[in-house]
Amino acid sequence: MPCTWITSDLQLRLILTLFLVAVETSQSVLVDTKALLTCPPVRWPSVLVVTWEIVLRDKPPCFRAYRRDTNQTTRGNCTDKRITWASRPDKNPALQVDPVAITHDGNYTCQIVTSDGNFHHEYHLQVLVPPDVTLIQTEKGTAVCKAAAGKPAAQISWTSEGDCVTEQKPYWGNGTVTVQSTCRWGGRHVLNVSCSVSHLTGNKSLLIQLSQG
Ligand SMILES: *[C@@H]1O[C@H](CO)[C@@H](O)[C@H](O)[C@H]1NC(C)=O
Ligand SMILES: *[C@@H]1O[C@H](CO)[C@@H](O)[C@H](O)[C@H]1NC(C)=O
Ligand SMILES: *[C@@H]1O[C@H](CO)[C@@H](O)[C@H](O)[C@H]1NC(C)=O
Ligand SMILES: *[C@@H]1O[C@H](CO)[C@@H](O)[C@H](O)[C@H]1NC(C)=O
Ligand SMILES: *[C@@H]1O[C@H](CO)[C@@H](O)[C@H](O)[C@H]1NC(C)=O
Ligand SMILES: *[C@@H]1O[C@H](CO)[C@@H](O)[C@H](O)[C@H]1NC(C)=O
Repeated sequence: MPCTWITSDLQLRLILTLFLVAVETSQSVLVDTKALLTCPPVRWPSVLVVTWEIVLRDKPPCFRAYRRDTNQTTRGNCTDKRITWASRPDKNPALQVDPVAITHDGNYTCQIVTSDGNFHHEYHLQVLVPPDVTLIQTEKGTAVCKAAAGKPAAQISWTSEGDCVTEQKPYWGNGTVTVQSTCRWGGRHVLNVSCSVSHLTGNKSLLIQLSQG
């Protein structure tokens, strides 16, 4: 295992017991963009080892590391080529995910062992996928608003209150959800209706002119 020198070094294990400063943050990133995850700010000359622990959903954890005294990096057992050092780890041990895919949801922890103590920064990364929004009239006085394959699920609301049924269809394969709302305005003289879709990636509003019954 390429990482064994991290745990087998007795000296490092003694230092591990000094103290620990741990920070956790939640970060949302848009699919197909670049995510940059930085390590805790530390005095660089005090750094012994930097380790990134990456835990993706339904996968065993993987590690990559940089050892400063020997200026040695190891990709460890992280095989995803889209997860790399952001620059040269001897300058800055930040991690980048580029481009972010829906499978990159998970926890990323930068663990720095220094002669001053131990510093952790854990990121809970949530990948966002904007839904495809459509609004169509299916029959007289009936409209269907659909927010397809978004992550997380979108919320749909209407301006003119109708007789509405909203359903969610998850795609179990990739974590996206399709939300569909069907409304009827039977017997009412509603001509223009609009559907508003709210989502973490941005809100959208569509208008449709219903043909008269
Ligand atoms: C990430 O950490 C959170 C909080 O500790 C936990 O609830 C979640 O299950 C973890 N996610 C993964 C993919 O392990
Ligand atoms: C990576 O190695 C660790 C132990 O060093 C192991 O627990 C984990 O399952 C491995 N992960 C993968 C993706 O092989
Ligand atoms: C560390 O190694 C890289 C190449 O692997 C080299 O470019 C860099 O100059 C080295 N840094 C130090 C501080 O020795
Ligand atoms: C998720 O799966 C659905 C259905 O297979 C597909 O239409 C959609 O493009 C996928 N989304 C991503 C981001 O992979
Ligand atoms: C509906 O919208 C159209 C333009 O899209 C507008 O000309 C018309 O006056 C609107 N009707 C009502 C009842 O608001
Ligand atoms: C989107 O809509 C929701 C509720 O409808 C609102 O809380 C949120 O601030 C809106 N977001 C943006 C970016 O306008």
